[in-house]
Amino acid sequence: MIEALELTKKFTEFTAVDGLSFHVGAGEIYGLLGPNGSGKSTTMRMLLGILQPTSGTARIMGHGIANEIVAAKRVMGYVPEEPVLPERLTGWEYINYVADIWRIQRGPEREEEIEELLTLLDIRDASDDLIETYSKGMARKIGLVAALIHHPKVLILDEVQAGIDPRGAATIKEIMNGLRDRGASILMSTHVLEIAEQMCDRIGIINQGKMIAEGTMDELRLQAKGHSSLEEIFLSLTGGPDMQKIAEFLGEIA
Ligand SMILES: Nc1ncnc2c1ncn2[C@@H]1O[C@H](COP(=O)(O)OP(=O)(O)O)[C@@H](O)[C@H]1O
Ligand SMILES: [Mg+2]
Repeated sequence: MIEALELTKKFTEFTAVDGLSFHVGAGEIYGLLGPNGSGKSTTMRMLLGILQPTSGTARIMGHGIANEIVAAKRVMGYVPEEPVLPERLTGWEYINYVADIWRIQRGPEREEEIEELLTLLDIRDASDDLIETYSKGMARKIGLVAALIHHPKVLILDEVQAGIDPRGAATIKEIMNGLRDRGASILMSTHVLEIAEQMCDRIGIINQGKMIAEGTMDELRLQAKGHSSLEEIFLSLTGGPDMQKIAEFLGEIA
């Protein structure tokens, strides 16, 4: 369970996240959908205790992020947009290092589970290579394995499908569905409407740090009545392309 309560983050004068409230229940996949720079990553970083909110707060499985962040962190798994990984370790070494940090007992059970996840994500063969040789997609996959190893009740995935091959994306979706069905709360971000539609039970559309619409895809469709395609819904809520400026630019380079 994630409860965000009026979360706000200001970077000096600029308000990146503006009074954001939402909840993600047990057994739910919630998507933060919004254009680049709308405050998705900043929101997640506050939930994870990486950034201090300017005001507002959140609870993770009942643990307040202000004064119970250690307990909150224990139940969370996080895959950042660009995972920072130890380049000089192999994938296998890294995952085992993370498993040691979580004090997961060494032995065949742990090894089997790691192998299973690596195989599912098609990175078993690369797991003896140094992480510095990994593509962005492979790095994100190894980041996902690391995030899952302690069986988090709350999973936070920042643009996890970006740069992932279709088979990998479908695998990640199935893993997420499986965890959701086992009662996990999953918060994911995306700027891609189709991904939100395919993966999420509920969606919060954010723009300039504010929640501008929230609900199931069907509810969102109702809220944006009169717009035929999903893309139109998204654009009508977050602002479409500036055709005038595009035309001016194209005119200038003609
Ligand atoms: N550390 C920071 N210092 C200053 N501005 C930041 C910082 N982190 C993010 N921002 C700004 O906050 C806004 C929201 O960023 P972000 O949360 O990364 O958006 P999103 O993940 O939705 O693309 C952007 O305008 C970004 O430039
Ligand atoms: Mg982001």
